[in-house]
Amino acid sequence: MVKLTGLKKIKTAVFISGTGSNLFSLIKFSKTKRSKILISLIISNNSKSKGLKYSKIYKIKKKIFDFNKRSISEQKILELLKKKQIELICLAGFMKILSKNFITKFKGTILNIHPSLLPKYKGLNTHKKVIENREKFSGCTVHFVTPKLDSGKIILQKRVKVRKSDTEKTLAKKILIQEHKIYPLAIKKIFY
Ligand code: GRF
Repeated sequence: MVKLTGLKKIKTAVFISGTGSNLFSLIKFSKTKRSKILISLIISNNSKSKGLKYSKIYKIKKKIFDFNKRSISEQKILELLKKKQIELICLAGFMKILSKNFITKFKGTILNIHPSLLPKYKGLNTHKKVIENREKFSGCTVHFVTPKLDSGKIILQKRVKVRKSDTEKTLAKKILIQEHKIYPLAIKKIFY
């Protein structure tokens, strides 16, 4: 959708809350030859996020913000993003909801990965709901972030079969493997 020429890379910030396996897949992708992104910032609401270890390993600046004080933190984040000239935010297992104010004030692109086939199962506990509803398929979605939760335009989805034997845990694991594949593919699709 956005054709880029030359060597310029898109300065990217990844927002995480937990394990950071999607962050890791994005870092690996960013290091591939043709990747158009450069991850220069990791933001977390949780100082105990396991994914913060990638900051040290890959020498990427990290910053933790207290989302109990959301509007103050969001203001500080916006200032930091501006200072670091961030053009792309990838939400990757970021478990806080960004305000409308933040989303409209940030002038770049914000993407999110959600572990369901949106528009089905927005919000939390997707795998539990999928299993309870005996869905035959679930999956994951990369979409643009808009002020309405999990409702922005869909960029890419991957469908995964739900087996009768699946539990929340096995389903989450299967879907996560696909998340790691489609997040980079979605970025490739929009910036080429
Ligand atoms: C992923 O399934 C993501 O879609 C969801 O939380 C999980 C986070 O995984 N919102 P990780 O932190 O990227 O390993």
